[in-house]
Amino acid sequence: MQVYIEDLGKHDGQEVTIKGWLYNIRSSGKIRFLLVRDGTGIVQAVIAKNECGDEIFEITENIAQETSLVVTGSVKPEKRAPGGYELAVKDIHIIQKAEGYPITPKEHSIEYLLPLRHLWLRSKNQHAIMRLRHEMIKAFRDFLDEQGFINADCPIITPSACEGTSTLFEVAYYDQKAYLSQSGQLYNEALAAALGKVYCFGPTFRAEKSKTRKHLTEFWMLEPEVAYLELDGIMDLAENMIVFMVDRILKTRQAELNTLERDISKLKKICKPFPRITYKEAVMIVREKDPGFTDGEDFGAPHETILGEHFDKPLFVHHYPAHVKAFYMKQDPSDPNLSLSVDMIGPEGYGELIGGGQREDDHDRLQKHIREHNLPEASFQWYLDLRKYGTFPHGGFGLGLERTIAWICGIKHVRETIPFPRMLDKIYP
Ligand code: 4AD
Ligand code: MG
Repeated sequence: MQVYIEDLGKHDGQEVTIKGWLYNIRSSGKIRFLLVRDGTGIVQAVIAKNECGDEIFEITENIAQETSLVVTGSVKPEKRAPGGYELAVKDIHIIQKAEGYPITPKEHSIEYLLPLRHLWLRSKNQHAIMRLRHEMIKAFRDFLDEQGFINADCPIITPSACEGTSTLFEVAYYDQKAYLSQSGQLYNEALAAALGKVYCFGPTFRAEKSKTRKHLTEFWMLEPEVAYLELDGIMDLAENMIVFMVDRILKTRQAELNTLERDISKLKKICKPFPRITYKEAVMIVREKDPGFTDGEDFGAPHETILGEHFDKPLFVHHYPAHVKAFYMKQDPSDPNLSLSVDMIGPEGYGELIGGGQREDDHDRLQKHIREHNLPEASFQWYLDLRKYGTFPHGGFGLGLERTIAWICGIKHVRETIPFPRMLDKIYP
């Protein structure tokens, strides 16, 4: 019976078959220890010459890493083995003898590994990161679904910019110009008027001109948008969603966090409430470390690091100056220079994980902002329509999935948080 390694515990004492690949092999006299992986985990398969015979022993004489094989044996409890079980091999069948696999268990440089990403994904740490990615997506979806959100997705090929025109990827759309979506938000607003509470989740694109550890050119964004939700409610939603996800990860993915040697005590501190400060208050904190910072400017990566390290939880910064934010941000009714915007800055230097806020719901002010930002008004007629036919206060946010994964995993660079990263100078494999 074929079983998966992660389920071995359910088959204690039984004879089972594992189909996978050789991760490592070590011999000690008449015993061989094979580490076999099948995508769900790694198990130690023990071949004892006097139990399985000469033939089986010879088959495994010169097999190398990543050889594909089928192993049959009985499941035995073994405290020292990862997962608590090992396999006493009865039979083994080699599918293909792999030779010269380029990624050995020793350390390799990132320059060496990135072009081998299609193989690197088989390594222990990468395997753990991908499983955490999966669980985080599922947790976010479960959270929103349980709250009655409808997942209605937004187009990827769009006629206009959402987040400024400097990072657009242009595509030829028959005889028109079109762009890859930077964010589903504008369409999400139309969906929120139709369905109340919605979210979209998909790839978004930014032609980032700089190489940093936080920027990809293709990344996944989770964007909830809610009718009649105002700034405080938007922060509540983000806070609840993050706490739900962290709880889930701590409950179900300790093994993966341990593989990555993540300091779990830092994640255990992620509970409500998260601090909420205004942009003005944030400026004062930044200035303690960087006295040259000019009030009114947007925060850069070093300033976000200062803010993130000041607290050991994610931090909400709200009421940014309107001029550092996008055209759609709602103007603060008590100060036209401020916007009802909010960013969530991650702890431990992970920077901005969430950007969002309340949307301008006044037709004429929105139209004025579109003109001031030199955006092509004709492409935004449908968006202005939302302010003509029953305008409503509303808002939401976008969570950058890869930055959030980097934080949860405790890894420095977002390039390892997505199966096949796309960056300024990188589109292979
Ligand atoms: O702050 P941003 O630009 O917000 C928006 O796009 C809004 N329209 C979303 C909304 O309100 N529905 O992007 C949201 C998040 C950032 O906080 C960051 O985590 C991530 O997306 N992000 C990136 N992640 C990786 N690489 C990049 N180049 C990113 N740019 C933004
Ligand atoms: Mg932002």
